[in-house]
Amino acid sequence: MAEVIQHDILIVGGGGAGLRASIAAAELNPELSIAVVSKVYPMRSHTVAAEGGAAAVIKENDSIDAHCYDTISGGDWMADQDAVELFCNEATREMTQLEHWGCPWNREPDGSIAVRPFGGMKIERTWFASDKTGFHMLHTLFQTTLKYEPVKRYDEWFATKLLVDDGRVQGVTAIELLTGQVRTIAAKSVIICSGGGGRIFPFTTNGAIKTGDGMAMAYRAGVPLKDMEFVQYHPTGLPGTGILITEATRGEGGIIVNKDGYRYLQDYDLGTPLDINDPNHPQKRNMELGPRDRLSQAFVKEMEKGNTVKSEYGDIVYLDIRHLGEEKIDKKLPFVRELVTNYVGIDPVTELIPVRPVVHYMMGGVHTNIDTFTGLTGLYAAGETACVSINGANRLGSNSLTELLVFGRHAGENAAKHAIECGDLNISALEAQAKDEQNRIASNFIKKQGGTQRVADIRKEMNLTMESGAGIYRTESSLKETVDKLAELKEKFKQVNLDDRTVSFNLELTAALELENMLELAQALAHSAIERRESRGSHQRLDHPERDDEKFLKHSMAYYNGEDAPRIDYLDVVITKWPPGERKYGS
Ligand code: FUM
Repeated sequence: MAEVIQHDILIVGGGGAGLRASIAAAELNPELSIAVVSKVYPMRSHTVAAEGGAAAVIKENDSIDAHCYDTISGGDWMADQDAVELFCNEATREMTQLEHWGCPWNREPDGSIAVRPFGGMKIERTWFASDKTGFHMLHTLFQTTLKYEPVKRYDEWFATKLLVDDGRVQGVTAIELLTGQVRTIAAKSVIICSGGGGRIFPFTTNGAIKTGDGMAMAYRAGVPLKDMEFVQYHPTGLPGTGILITEATRGEGGIIVNKDGYRYLQDYDLGTPLDINDPNHPQKRNMELGPRDRLSQAFVKEMEKGNTVKSEYGDIVYLDIRHLGEEKIDKKLPFVRELVTNYVGIDPVTELIPVRPVVHYMMGGVHTNIDTFTGLTGLYAAGETACVSINGANRLGSNSLTELLVFGRHAGENAAKHAIECGDLNISALEAQAKDEQNRIASNFIKKQGGTQRVADIRKEMNLTMESGAGIYRTESSLKETVDKLAELKEKFKQVNLDDRTVSFNLELTAALELENMLELAQALAHSAIERRESRGSHQRLDHPERDDEKFLKHSMAYYNGEDAPRIDYLDVVITKWPPGERKYGS
């Protein structure tokens, strides 16, 4: 094998959280050497796809407590309140820091930061850079990392395994996609920032790269996956492609109508006392700004009533932004116009946009404490990969971009402190483990003969069973079918066959490794969901329709169990100032 590469800190993932972590580590101690390993060029990370904005208190009518409360009630009391308080307290500082690094936040005519309303936030606190917020944030972070010499990038390297020796993470193996070589990167601290795994579902806003690789690596190394049953459906995805049509459309005044042009959301409980005749009521301004879980659930009910429109991509409703006018659309929502024109062939200035709920985000992920530490010495996690947890059972739109800044920084700093304090690495043990990993990849995929199964077929079956059994509404029997199907698919996966045996950019091999990771995530999700016999936030059980705080005000913790199904355990939710209550957005 090639020589072992050595760094102090290794970050898996070059999106917003990973880049923010690298800057924080470099600033804490410029002597540290930092590696960012990413399976794509950082500017292609999924952060780039975020559109609507990032939340932080900035206006005088707002407060940290108000942001905390919206986040906690939005998450149906499943978020850890100490983490939420830390997050809300540090959010504005991080957003301002980004401004200083060059992020072009939109501004009011008087020069102050412009904010827009967002779903589930009672007060306007979503900062934005047009409707390409993620693009601008990622650019800002990327260009800032270039200032720091200690940050070395390994672009288009696919991390496959955490190397653990003596109870301590000491690096990873990664395939250098250009050469196909399995390389060993040793590091005193590793931070996982590789995003979520929305691709386990068939219809998602998530880019093809979001296959939960980092989550699966940590899981196999013994770190539990927390709250995996909570999956966010965004109410407005473009049928067919799943491309996100940002909540900012509704923040700017867009409305959702059914087949009869009726604003059906007024008929549903969105967690807001509905009095839309009160001109000052926030929901009067825009009932479409209820929380995402409730809006997506309302779509299903509306479909069951026969009030949606049949399309070749399933049932749809319409998002109407025509009344905003061309000038406002071009100023505030130019990307929406571009996307709808290019992908649906219509102009939203004059026509209705077809939309349907789409898998968007995983509230669950790698368990960490408030310091981004996973419990496995040397291993940290931040961003969508991690569950710290501030999002509870339903994330509020625009909290995740800020989350990756706040906790990306903490992860970088804490990993740096650990790297400074910990002892030397056991390089020969890492070399031996890396050799085993190289042999595993060769024998299971590259050199394997006689496999009968195809990656694409297994992936499709996984996608279908996740949607049918673990979608917006779930039951014991639907989840049982999914659990059984996933066990069957894991068996089939052992017989997978690759047609491509080449070394350079073998994308069939990476697709197989991604599928292997997704099957682990899917299992953790389905088993966590079947055990949670209550309805909370995005986890809606038709057979257990009520929230049950007595039994389930707890995080689920899915532990890897080798060939067997995951073991599910529980951890208490941290409650500080806000005892569990009813979800309300309107008062
Ligand atoms: O709709 C959106 O722009 C999505 C934002 C988010 O998920 O935070």
